[in-house]
Amino acid sequence: MGVPSAPRVFVSGLLPAPAMEQLAELDLGWWEGDNLSRERLLEEAARAQGLLTFLTDRVDEELLAAAGRLKIVANLAVGFDNFDLAAATRHGVLLTNTPDVLTEATADLAFGLLIAAARRFREGRDWLEGGHWQGWRPLLLAGQEVGGATLGIVGLGRIGRAVARRARGFDMRILYTASRRHPEAEDETGAVFVSLGELLEQADFVSLHCPLTPATHHLIGPAELARMKPTAVLVNASRGAVVDQTALLEALRAGRIFAAGLDVFEEEPIAPDDPLLGLPNVVALPHLGSATVATRTRMALRAVENLRAGLAGARPRDLLNPEAWHG
Ligand code: DGY
Repeated sequence: MGVPSAPRVFVSGLLPAPAMEQLAELDLGWWEGDNLSRERLLEEAARAQGLLTFLTDRVDEELLAAAGRLKIVANLAVGFDNFDLAAATRHGVLLTNTPDVLTEATADLAFGLLIAAARRFREGRDWLEGGHWQGWRPLLLAGQEVGGATLGIVGLGRIGRAVARRARGFDMRILYTASRRHPEAEDETGAVFVSLGELLEQADFVSLHCPLTPATHHLIGPAELARMKPTAVLVNASRGAVVDQTALLEALRAGRIFAAGLDVFEEEPIAPDDPLLGLPNVVALPHLGSATVATRTRMALRAVENLRAGLAGARPRDLLNPEAWHG
């Protein structure tokens, strides 16, 4: 497909139609299946000037060294832990992400998980489907109260702040921890800055919104889970590896915390028989944070805009490694 004399671009999967249309004048290839293999990505990278990647595609030294013509890699995600920024800069390859456009959708999903885990939606559904519902009882599937509770947000960037705005509507007390203070967000949402330890000890809900970096890898492990209240709920809509999943499984099994709402996992896709998915106090989704039609379309258009700018020699709007830019 596309125009052979134009720059070669490879996309890791079919995008919403408006975005595909904007790529039509390029020499375009895309992966039609579910999961693009590493081998095929390397093969395509070797001849492409532009790649539009998904968060599952590793863009590292191996790929960049084999991609002699590559000018830009545009990620269809705000998170970019799949990118080696330093390696791309060494190779003079521009990297971009898709900030802003998915903030509200992701915050909605995180808040949905928070309520679903607190109020035991999954067990309620299992109860109905299993034919266990005999009648109303005072404490049948009674969960944790959301309104007026204390929410601890780890990472008060765009998405964390959008979650805080939602929490205000539920009269929640909001604590946050982050690598730096966010005075503007504190003014807007009333969030109070505390240490991670204080947050874990005081929060009824802990919601993770930090990027995955070496510093946040397994940020929530056995010691952190042990500091949480036994009635607390953990929500993760950031990256799976921010949580030590084995430790989380043990904590949930032992009732050391009340429940978890998880949109992300250390390995994705998580195996359907993973014991975590079998726990009644886990509400799990397959990485759907930004998955609304409107948001995914905006993300795709933003990634295409970045890609086209990089190919045309212009500075992409969402450039992650300005050191590689020699405009
Ligand atoms: C992101 O953008 O980083 C999400 O995980 C997918 O929308």
